[in-house]
Amino acid sequence: MYHPALFKGMNVVVTGGGRGIGLEVARQFLDCGARVLVHLGRTIASDRPEFLDLAAAEGRAFLTAADFLSDGGVESLADAVRSRFDSVDVLVNNAGTMVGRFPAGELTDDDYRTVVKLNQTSVVEMTRTMLPLLRKGTHPAIVNTVSISARAGGSPGSSIYSATKAFVSTYSKALARELAPEGIRVNCVSPGTIATDFHERYSTPEKLEATRKTIPLGRLGMAEDCAPAYLFLASHALSGYITGQVLEVNGGQLIA
Ligand SMILES: NC(=O)c1ccc[n+]([C@@H]2O[C@H](COP(=O)([O-])OP(=O)(O)OC[C@H]3O[C@@H](n4cnc5c(N)ncnc54)[C@H](OP(=O)(O)O)[C@@H]3O)[C@@H](O)[C@H]2O)c1
Repeated sequence: MYHPALFKGMNVVVTGGGRGIGLEVARQFLDCGARVLVHLGRTIASDRPEFLDLAAAEGRAFLTAADFLSDGGVESLADAVRSRFDSVDVLVNNAGTMVGRFPAGELTDDDYRTVVKLNQTSVVEMTRTMLPLLRKGTHPAIVNTVSISARAGGSPGSSIYSATKAFVSTYSKALARELAPEGIRVNCVSPGTIATDFHERYSTPEKLEATRKTIPLGRLGMAEDCAPAYLFLASHALSGYITGQVLEVNGGQLIA
């Protein structure tokens, strides 16, 4: 674990922090002294991990929900951030999912719009709306979640999802150059195949086992394998000279 005071006094926003990778990212930021506004997802479920409620009771975590697929969803999250923080030091755009597997010939207009709105448009909107607060932050950093599929193309039925992750990757690089003069760094974490609810929904056990065999380190990833990469890229002390990069966290699944 990083030093428990690494993010002391800093304001961090994590989207999609109710489970999976985002939940572990939020936990590690809290463990390193940050105040964290945790966007849990579409709803505030009652079966939250205890540490989140404890941190909320202590005024270190602020829990909120917003559906990025509903009109005004991102703006309602932005309102929640503004009501808690005068400035933001770290923004982690992590919420997203494949939505479903859509063979190219069967993809409907609605499927297409949904996947793009959730994984691509929401990142642009959230970034735009947080920029005024990030500009007031100390050594501000944005860390976006992309995917191994952004480079490798993804598996059948995931073409639009994979393309949205490639969009976010390129968007982040352009933004890194644009915002560098203001001292705002922008980087991405690109998870490989990580054992979260994500694959419970979109991959069979047989598919996951076949994938596992292709991973040089011999196992699927865990959220705990990913979270330190986010903290590293968010920390001026650890990565202050790194911007516009994509950190691949995949056990060697993609070596190129
Ligand atoms: N797991 C992997 O192998 C893998 C690989 C590469 C990239 N990724 C990316 O990593 C990120 C986190 O994935 P994960 O594996 O941790 O998945 P997860 O466990 O399914 O978590 C996804 C998060 O996104 C939120 N979300 C989904 N739909 C939403 C909506 N309409 N509005 C607002 N929030 C919404 C979820 O909230 P709800 O609880 O409301 O659904 C949840 O908090 C995603 O961007 C994913 O694309 C994952």
